[in-house]
Amino acid sequence: MTVFVLNGPNLGRLGTREPGVYGATTYAGLVTLCTETGAAQGLDVDVRQTDHEGEMVGWLHEAADLGAPVVLNAGAWTHYSIAVRDAAAQLSAPLLEVHISNVHRREEFRHHSVLSDIATGVLAGFGVDGYRLALEWLARHPA
Ligand code: DQA
Repeated sequence: MTVFVLNGPNLGRLGTREPGVYGATTYAGLVTLCTETGAAQGLDVDVRQTDHEGEMVGWLHEAADLGAPVVLNAGAWTHYSIAVRDAAAQLSAPLLEVHISNVHRREEFRHHSVLSDIATGVLAGFGVDGYRLALEWLARHPA
């Protein structure tokens, strides 16, 4: 089974971006974490990152057409992008919303997600380990 791990804006800058909030793991390190976790769990993992909303919408359409599960860290789009929500709503396989930081301990504007009520589950605050936990859950709950 192929799992899409889709990352939104600024996540390509992990490692240098606000390390006190997002940790020291680089984006390359996150890709390795996801692909190695996937390999250990028998999942084929396709990890992508974009700063462009339309590209993310296209990737979600691709996942919807393939019936593929998605681990989605939509970054700031989480809090306001109806376009990303509408694309994610087309998925038939599980959608796991992941945030590296615990958004509920941060600014008020990060407390609301336009994705959570259409997500299968939400992980926030576990650092990049949230991706590993999401992939392990998907391996145990094949679509
Ligand atoms: C984030 C939290 C968002 O509020 C923020 O805009 C991000 C990253 C996280 O992984 O903690 O870009 O999704």
